[in-house]
Amino acid sequence: MKYVITGALGHIGSSLIRELSIWKPDCKIIMIDNMSAQRYCSLFNLPKLANYKFIEADVGTINLSDIFKDSDAVFHLAAITNAAGSFARAKEIESNNFSCTQKVANACLDQKIPLVYLSSTSVYGTSKDTVDENCTQEELQPQSPYAETKLKEEKLIQELVERDLKAVILRFGTIFGTSPGMRFHTAVNKFCWQASIGEPLSVWKTAYHQLRPYLDLKDAIKAFKFILENSLFDGETYNVLTGNYSVKIITDIIKKTIPNIRIELVEARIMNQLSYEVLDFKFRQKGFLPEGDIERGIKETLALLNIHN
Ligand SMILES: NC(=O)c1ccc[n+]([C@@H]2O[C@H](COP(=O)([O-])OP(=O)(O)OC[C@H]3O[C@@H](n4cnc5c(N)ncnc54)[C@H](O)[C@@H]3O)[C@@H](O)[C@H]2O)c1
Repeated sequence: MKYVITGALGHIGSSLIRELSIWKPDCKIIMIDNMSAQRYCSLFNLPKLANYKFIEADVGTINLSDIFKDSDAVFHLAAITNAAGSFARAKEIESNNFSCTQKVANACLDQKIPLVYLSSTSVYGTSKDTVDENCTQEELQPQSPYAETKLKEEKLIQELVERDLKAVILRFGTIFGTSPGMRFHTAVNKFCWQASIGEPLSVWKTAYHQLRPYLDLKDAIKAFKFILENSLFDGETYNVLTGNYSVKIITDIIKKTIPNIRIELVEARIMNQLSYEVLDFKFRQKGFLPEGDIERGIKETLALLNIHN
C-alpha cells in the first residue's frame, strides 16, 4: 500500500503519518512539505513500522505525477493555516492554498487516485441556531480569507467529482489535542499556551459565550481511518467534529488545572455576533462515532506545557 500526505509535517499530518504506520504496517508513506511552517520536529523518531519518504517541496510547483503513481490514497493537508492571521496575507493564502489543491486534485483525477480533501467548518456563518451540510448559500459565510479560499477549493473538488474524481471533502472543526508538530494558533491550544506562560487569555469580544465546533485530533485521525476502511470517496462533504463548545466552557476546563488565569477581551476582524452549532449527523449516519473529549485534550496539552506553577 502507498499513501501520499501533503503538508505531512503539520499539526494534523504529524499525527496521521504515525497512525498510518499502525493501520497499514509496511506501507509506503510519502510525505511532502515545503517546511514553510518549520516543523522539523515532526520527522523526529518516526516509527519503524512503515517505509517513510520525505520530499521537501512546494506542492504548487512540484511535478506530482511520479510521486502519486500507484498510490492508494492522497491526503491533502498542505495549506497556509491560521485563519485569524489570514487577513494580512489574503493574496498569498489564496494563491498558495488554491493552487496546491488544484494541482493535487487534478493529479488524483489523472491517475484515478482517491483524495481526502480537508476543508473547515469556518466556511459557515449563520443566524440560525444550527447549521449542517444542506444549508443555503446564505449560511456559507466564510469569516476570513482562509475560509473563503476553503470554499473556493471545495467548489473545485465538486466540479472534478463531476468528472469522476474519487474524493471526500471533510469540514473539520477546530482541532484540539497534541501532536509532534502541533501549532498554537487556534483557540484551545492558544489558550493553553497563554495560560501556561502566565499571559492573559486573549478572547475575541464576541466569542465568550458563542458556540463553535471543535474536533479532537484523535477523532480527526479516526475519521481518516474510517474513510479508508469504508472507501468513503463518495464525492460528498461531511462535517467532522467532537462537539460544539463556547470559550467559557474551554476556559473553565483550563481553570481546573491553572485556577488563576486572566481573560482579556480583544477585538478581532474574524469575529461575528452569531452563536451556532454545527451538526455532524451526516457523517454519524455513515457509522462514524466521535469519541474525543475536550477535557482530556486540554489536560494533555497543559501537561505537555508543564511550565506554570
Ligand atoms: N488545525 C485545525 O484546526 C484545522 C481545522 C480545519 C481544517 N484544517 C485543515 O487541515 C489541513 C492541515 O491543517 P494543520 O492544522 O495540520 O495545519 P499546519 O499549518 O499545522 O500544517 C500545514 C502544513 O502544510 C505545509 N505547507 C503549506 N503550504 C505548502 C505548500 N505549498 N507545499 C507543501 N507544503 C505546504 C506547511 O509547511 C505545514 O507543515 C489544512 O488544510 C487546514 O486548513 C485544520
